[in-house]
Amino acid sequence: MSDPKFQKTLKPVKSQGSDPAFFSVWDIHAYYGESYIVQGVSFDIHEGEIVALLGRNGAGKTSTLRAIARTDDPQIHKGEIWLDHEPLHDMKSFEASRLGLALVPEDRRIIPGLTVQENLELAQIEGKKGWSIERLYELFPRLGERKNQIGVTMSGGEQQMLAVARALAKDIKLLLLDEPYEGLAPVIVHEIEKTLEDIKKLGITTIIVEQNAIAALHLADRAIIMDSGQIVFDGTAQEVLDNDELRQEYLAI
Ligand SMILES: Nc1ncnc2c1ncn2[C@@H]1O[C@H](COP(=O)(O)OP(=O)(O)O)[C@@H](O)[C@H]1O
Ligand SMILES: [Mg+2]
Repeated sequence: MSDPKFQKTLKPVKSQGSDPAFFSVWDIHAYYGESYIVQGVSFDIHEGEIVALLGRNGAGKTSTLRAIARTDDPQIHKGEIWLDHEPLHDMKSFEASRLGLALVPEDRRIIPGLTVQENLELAQIEGKKGWSIERLYELFPRLGERKNQIGVTMSGGEQQMLAVARALAKDIKLLLLDEPYEGLAPVIVHEIEKTLEDIKKLGITTIIVEQNAIAALHLADRAIIMDSGQIVFDGTAQEVLDNDELRQEYLAI
C-alpha cells in the first residue's frame, strides 16, 4: 500500500457507461516481498454469480483470493477491487470483512478451544449478523448435532462445514472459498457439494477455488482459469467442460 504508484482516487474503471459490476477486480498486481505473483488480474462478477477460479498448483489462485480479502500478504502494488461500490483496495482485511467479504481459507482456521456453537457466536459478534445459528443448524444438521463439541476435534469435513457456516453467520456479500473439498473423502465432498448447491439457491455471490475442477465446474456458472499469475480464460463453466484442449493444458483433467 505504500507504493506511491498506488492510486487511491481512481474511479471504478468499469463504471463508465452502464452500471458497475457488483464485484470488480481491475488490473491487480500483488507481491510477497519482492516476489511478483499476481500479475495484472481483472474480472467482473455479477451479483449472485458463482465463479470457479481454476488453474494448476502455484498458478496464483490463493494469492488472488488473499489479495481480494486484503490480508497483509500478498501486498497489492497496483490495481483496484470494488465490492458493491466500495473500494476494497483501500481497506484492511477487517474493514473488508465488515463490509461483507468472507474468505474461507484452505486451513479453515477453526478457533481452538471453542465449541461449534461458540465459533458461530463469535462470528456473529465480529460482523453484522447474517443467518441465525438455528438456521445454520438446519443447513448443516451435523453441526447442530455437535454444537457442544470443540470445533477443532471434528473431522475435516465437519470443520469445513463449520468454516462455511461461520462465514454465513455474518451478513456477507461475497464468499471466497479456497479449496473447500481438499483432503476430504469423496462421500464428504458430495455432502459439502450439496450444501454449496443450497447456498447457491440463496444467491450468495461466490468465488470457489478448487483442484477438483469438475466438481467446481458443476457448481459454477462461470470459470476463470489462471496460469503463472495471469488469467488465461474467462468464460462459462460449460465452455470449459466442453473444451478438452483447455482442460488438458491448464487443469490436467
Ligand atoms: N507467502 C508466500 N511468500 C512467497 N511466495 C509465495 C507465498 N505464498 C505463495 N507464494 C508463491 O506464489 C505462487 C502462487 O501461489 P498460490 O497463490 O498459493 O497458488 P495456487 O493457490 O494457485 O496453488 C507460487 O509460486 C507460490 O510459491
Ligand atoms: Mg491455493
